[in-house]
Amino acid sequence: MADVVRGAVPSPNIWNSPQVYEVENRAVDPDGLIEATMRRLHPWAGANVLDLGCGTGFHLPLFAREATRVVGVEPHSGLAAAARRRVAHLTNVTVRDGAAQALPLPDASVDVVHARWAYFFGPGCEPGLAELARVLRRGGTAFLIDNDATRSTFGGWFRRWLPDYNPGKVERFWARHGFTREPLLIRWLFERRADLAAVLRIEFPAELAEAFLAEHPGLEVDYAINLWHRNY
Ligand SMILES: C[S@@+](CC[C@H](N)C(=O)[O-])C[C@H]1O[C@@H](n2cnc3c(N)ncnc32)[C@H](O)[C@@H]1O
Repeated sequence: MADVVRGAVPSPNIWNSPQVYEVENRAVDPDGLIEATMRRLHPWAGANVLDLGCGTGFHLPLFAREATRVVGVEPHSGLAAAARRRVAHLTNVTVRDGAAQALPLPDASVDVVHARWAYFFGPGCEPGLAELARVLRRGGTAFLIDNDATRSTFGGWFRRWLPDYNPGKVERFWARHGFTREPLLIRWLFERRADLAAVLRIEFPAELAEAFLAEHPGLEVDYAINLWHRNY
C-alpha cells in the first residue's frame, strides 16, 4: 500500500479506484454551479489557492488558470504523485504530501481554500479548522463541499447507505464554526451507463449499488450538495 500521512480519513473510492474516481469527477456538475458560486463569493484571479485533499489533482488546473499560486495538499502519497504528474507543465502549481490537521504551509499565506469531499465532514474536523484559521489571510475564504443528505436522488441513496447520518447535527456544527451554507442542486452526467455503474460500485456497498442501478435509469443523477463557506 502507498504511504498515507497520519490523520488521513480512509477514502476507499479514490484510494482504491483512482481511474473510476476520475470518471466520477468528469461527471460531476456539468453545469458548473459549484465553480460559478465560488467565483461569485471569492474569485481567485491573482490569489493563492489551496486545494486541500486534492486527490489526483483533478481541480488544480482550473485554479491554476487564474491564480498566482496553487498548492495541492494530499495525504495519500500515490495520489499526490499522480497530482504532480497532472500539473507538471503548470509552473504555478505545487503538490505537497500532508493532511488538513498539520498543513505544510506558513501562517497567513492563502487566500482561497477548496476542500471537496475531503476530511471536512462535520464534527471531528476541528483540528483542520484550526489550521484553516492559521493559513488563511484576513479576508480569505474557505470553501468546503459535502453531500446534502436531505434531498435529491443521491441524498436518498446516501441516507439508505448511512441511516444514522444526522444532517441537522452536521449543519449545526458548521453554523457554530461560522460557516454559511450554499445549498446547490448539481447533477452527475455520464457518457455511458457503464460509467455510472462503475462509479456507484466504488461509492456504495455492492448490494446497494446494484439496487440503485436497477431503480434508476439513464445517465443522469440529481445530486444535492452543500457548499459551506466562511470568510476569515
Ligand atoms: C473523495 S476524495 C476527493 C479528492 C478531490 N478533492 C477531488 O474532488 O477529486 C477525498 C480526498 O481527501 C483526502 N484526505 C483524506 N484525509 C485527509 C486529511 N486528513 N486531510 C486532507 N485530505 C484528506 C483523501 O486522501 C482523498 O484524496
